[in-house]
Amino acid sequence: MNKGKLYIETYGCQMNFSDSEIVASVLSDDYDVIDKATEADLILINTCSIREHAEQRVLNRLSELNALRKNNSRLQIGIIGCMAERIKEELFKTGSVDLVVGPDAYRSLPTLLKKESRVNINVLLSETETYDDIHPIRYDTNGISAFISIMRGCNNYCSYCVVPYTRGRERSRNPQTIINEALSLFEKGYREVTLLGQNVNSYCCDGVNFARLMKSVAEINPLLRIRFATSHPKDLSDELLEVMSSCSNICKSIHLPAQSGNDRVLKAMNRKYTRRWYLDRIASIRKYMPECSISTDFITGYCDETEEEHQDTLTLMQTVSFDYAYMFKYSEREGTRSANTKADTVPEEVKARRLTEIITLQQELSGKSNLKDVGKTMEVLAEGTSKRSEEHFFGRNSQNKVVVFPRGSCSKGEYVSVRITSCTSATLTGNLIDN
Ligand code: SAH
Ligand code: SF4
Ligand code: F3S
Repeated sequence: MNKGKLYIETYGCQMNFSDSEIVASVLSDDYDVIDKATEADLILINTCSIREHAEQRVLNRLSELNALRKNNSRLQIGIIGCMAERIKEELFKTGSVDLVVGPDAYRSLPTLLKKESRVNINVLLSETETYDDIHPIRYDTNGISAFISIMRGCNNYCSYCVVPYTRGRERSRNPQTIINEALSLFEKGYREVTLLGQNVNSYCCDGVNFARLMKSVAEINPLLRIRFATSHPKDLSDELLEVMSSCSNICKSIHLPAQSGNDRVLKAMNRKYTRRWYLDRIASIRKYMPECSISTDFITGYCDETEEEHQDTLTLMQTVSFDYAYMFKYSEREGTRSANTKADTVPEEVKARRLTEIITLQQELSGKSNLKDVGKTMEVLAEGTSKRSEEHFFGRNSQNKVVVFPRGSCSKGEYVSVRITSCTSATLTGNLIDN
């Protein structure tokens, strides 16, 4: 029998991108993945609920995709991922959805798709599902860099966050299956893996903690780079920093979301650390790895955040001098502790102004950080042709900064030495140096 054609559109975090590869694998007996929605028999939208805006985007896109039914009466459209888990049956009310499947129920997709019913739904969360025996189909890959999901769920319950409700309890994947997957990727020519979880520092399975897991993956081959995301500041251990500093193929880059620079706000957010604790973790990173880049996330206008408290975020940014940051306006999410117990009182225009202030400061800090690299020679993993021109390649250095350089005779997947000659706040530019 001919296979159907599956088009997957993915929103949200890296975990979702990794999950889409698992979904492609689960459905691979019945469907081939294609890259055009217009030719698909089945469209799956892998969705994110983190902010209201993320959900609105999907709903708009859904009505666009729904129009494709006019020319294809067999078309099925499914919502999977975090919105499926959060909104559940209600999604059928849009009139555009045939299928709703949450993040722990992807194994049921083939069965649900064969059912005749018009309302196929499975949003059961699991305490054990890690998809550890599934070989993800990397259908949208550069062949160099891949994600490996090492844990699922989150137990942290930050007051503003919907993830513990959409992704369920924290659980770690068997370490040997992670090592096998990384090894198999290396043998296929991949040169970088990113180990993923909402809070990788609490990885623990069969007596293996995150630091030990990182060490084992790093030992696969010195030519395989290792990255990870995301770390929660409350449990970023010195043991991990020591492993990172002792393995040259573990990238010197840490994403450590701060959320706010003010202790009252951090407490209200249930982040379980203080500004002082956060700064102590930064000092520890710098002690073990002075060259390590540090990026972060901030939320502005959380509930009743005052102007002084917002200033504390700005001063934390100055003190740490982050290399990069993702910054957001607080978006109240139904069902979270914040939504249940606190009013969302900061007016939209104040949130927006505070956001602009932190973005402006971060651009300055990122520019400064990049300027410090001009004149340095660094190792870059070549990832492919740059958007700038066919004659240029781009890649990233250990610090996760994008570097553009004239390609010369270099090929994808090669490590090259680049001397940095100029920069913007987003990119470094340089020339190849003969080793
Ligand atoms: N597990 C990761 C973050 C996942 S969500 C961690 O804790 O580090 C990514 C980012 O989205 C968060 O760090 C936070 O800055 C932001 N975010 C989460 N919920 C939000 C909300 N309700 N409104 C605005 N931003 C939010
Ligand atoms: Fe959300 Fe906090 Fe868990 Fe991150 S650690 S996913 S912000 S609850
Ligand atoms: Fe979004 Fe779900 Fe990731 S809410 S950020 S896709 S875990």
